[in-house]
Amino acid sequence: MYKCFIENNFFFEETMTLSRNSAKKLRYSVYFILLVVSFIIILRYLGNKKISRELVLNTTNENIEPKLILIYNTLWGSKLWTGLETTEKWNNWGGHPCKVQNCRVTYNKKLLSKADVVLFHAFGSDMLTRRELLKIQKDRNPNSYWIYFLHECPHNAKPEPYLYDGLFNWTMGYRHDADIFVPYNWEWGSWEEKSLDEKSTPFRNHAEDKDKLIWSGISHCGCMREHYIHKLREFINVDVFGNCANKFYKDKTPPVCQRGTAECKARLKRYKFYLAFENSFCEDYVSEKFSETILDGHTVPIVMGGANYKKIALPNSYIDVNDFDTIEDLANYIKYLDENDNAYNKHFEYKKTWKLGKPRAWSCKICEMINSIDLKPKSYEKLGDWYSVQNTCGTRLNKLRKIMHKSGVPHPYTDEYYLYDYEVDV
Ligand SMILES: *[C@@H]1O[C@H](CO)[C@@H](O)[C@H](O)[C@H]1NC(C)=O
Ligand SMILES: *[C@@H]1O[C@H](CO)[C@@H](O)[C@H](O)[C@H]1NC(C)=O
Repeated sequence: MYKCFIENNFFFEETMTLSRNSAKKLRYSVYFILLVVSFIIILRYLGNKKISRELVLNTTNENIEPKLILIYNTLWGSKLWTGLETTEKWNNWGGHPCKVQNCRVTYNKKLLSKADVVLFHAFGSDMLTRRELLKIQKDRNPNSYWIYFLHECPHNAKPEPYLYDGLFNWTMGYRHDADIFVPYNWEWGSWEEKSLDEKSTPFRNHAEDKDKLIWSGISHCGCMREHYIHKLREFINVDVFGNCANKFYKDKTPPVCQRGTAECKARLKRYKFYLAFENSFCEDYVSEKFSETILDGHTVPIVMGGANYKKIALPNSYIDVNDFDTIEDLANYIKYLDENDNAYNKHFEYKKTWKLGKPRAWSCKICEMINSIDLKPKSYEKLGDWYSVQNTCGTRLNKLRKIMHKSGVPHPYTDEYYLYDYEVDV
C-alpha cells in the first residue's frame, strides 16, 4: 500500500490507494496540467497588459471627445505661446508626438465656458486680477481645471499668489511638487544613459580652448551673491557682465558682452567657470543661469541657490559654494583646477555616460491628465501658503551665511529680515 501525495498534501490520504507506477503517472500528469495552467495565466496577463496599453494610447481617437485647452493670457507678451501656437504643435511637443492626442488648443476667450483646461501665466501686468477672475467665474465650466503657471519664486511673484486663493485647480512651474513640473528651461529633460555608440565618442580636454577663468552676469542688483563675488575677486579674477557690473569696476569701464550675439557666445566659451548664482534661495528654484550652462556644456557652473542640486544634477557636473567653508577655500580650489587639466576635466566626466533626454513635454502631460480615468477634483484653497516665502524659501541659506561670516564679509547679510535679498550700495 502506498499513500500518494501525502507529502504534497494534494489529496486526502484515505481517498487513494494506488500502485507505485500509476502514482508516478498521476503525479506527472498533475505537474503537466499545473504547468499548462500557469502558462495560460501568464499569457492572459501579458495580453491584458497589451490591451490596456492600447486603450490608453487610443484615448486620442474617435472613442473619446476632444478636450479643449484655452490659453488665456500672454506669455511674456506673446499672445500665441512660443512653440504652442497651434493644436498640431500642442500635441507634438518639439516635434515629438504626445501619447494622448485628443487635445485642441485655443486662444479664443469666448470659448471659456467650453474649455476643459484654462491656462494662465500668473505673472506681470497681463495676469488677471482676483476681481477679474471672479468676474469670469460665471462662465466657468464647473468641470474645468484652471492652471496657475508661474516660474518666479515667491519673492518675485507679482501679483502675489495669496490673491488667488480658491481659484485654481492645478499648479505648474519649477516646483517639483507642482501638478505639472516645468523646469525653467523647457529644453531640460531627465538624465539618460548614453548608448554604446555615443559612449564611444572620444573624450576631449575641456580646458584646451579656454584662456579665461570665471565670468558672471548679473542684472538684478543688490543681492547676497554680489557680496560673495566681491570677496571672491580678492583672490581670483572674475569678469562681471550685466546691469550691475559697474559696481565691480570702480574707475574702469566694465566688460560688455551683447547677450545672444554669436560674438558674445564665442567669447563666453573661453571661460572655464560660470557663477550660476541665484537671486533667491527657494526650494527647487534654479533659473536658466544653471540649466543653460549645463545645456551648453562648455563651462562648469559654480552654483549658489536654494535648490537641491544633488537631485537635479549629476555628481561633479557643478561646484557648490556651500561645499566650501570660506570663499577663499573656493578660490583655492578654482586655482587648483585652473592648473590641473585632469582635475578640471573630472567636472565633465559625467558626459561620458549621461546625456539629457527628451524635454518634459508639459503640453502632453496636461492632455494626459485631463484624459485620465483617475482625474480627481482638486483646488488650491490656500495657494498663498503653498507659494509663500515663509514655507518654501530660505533653504540652504544658513550655511551660506556662515560661510560669508567666516570669510569676513560685512553685514547685513545675516539680517533675518533679508531672507534672500537686500538693497545695499556697494
Ligand atoms: C488603437 O488604435 C490603433 C490605430 O488607430 C488601432 O490599430 C488599434 O486596433 C486600436 N486599439 C484598440 C484597443 O482599440
Ligand atoms: C476647480 O477649482 C474651483 C475653485 O476652487 C472649484 O470650485 C472647482 O470645483 C474645481 N474643479 C475641479 C474639477 O476640481
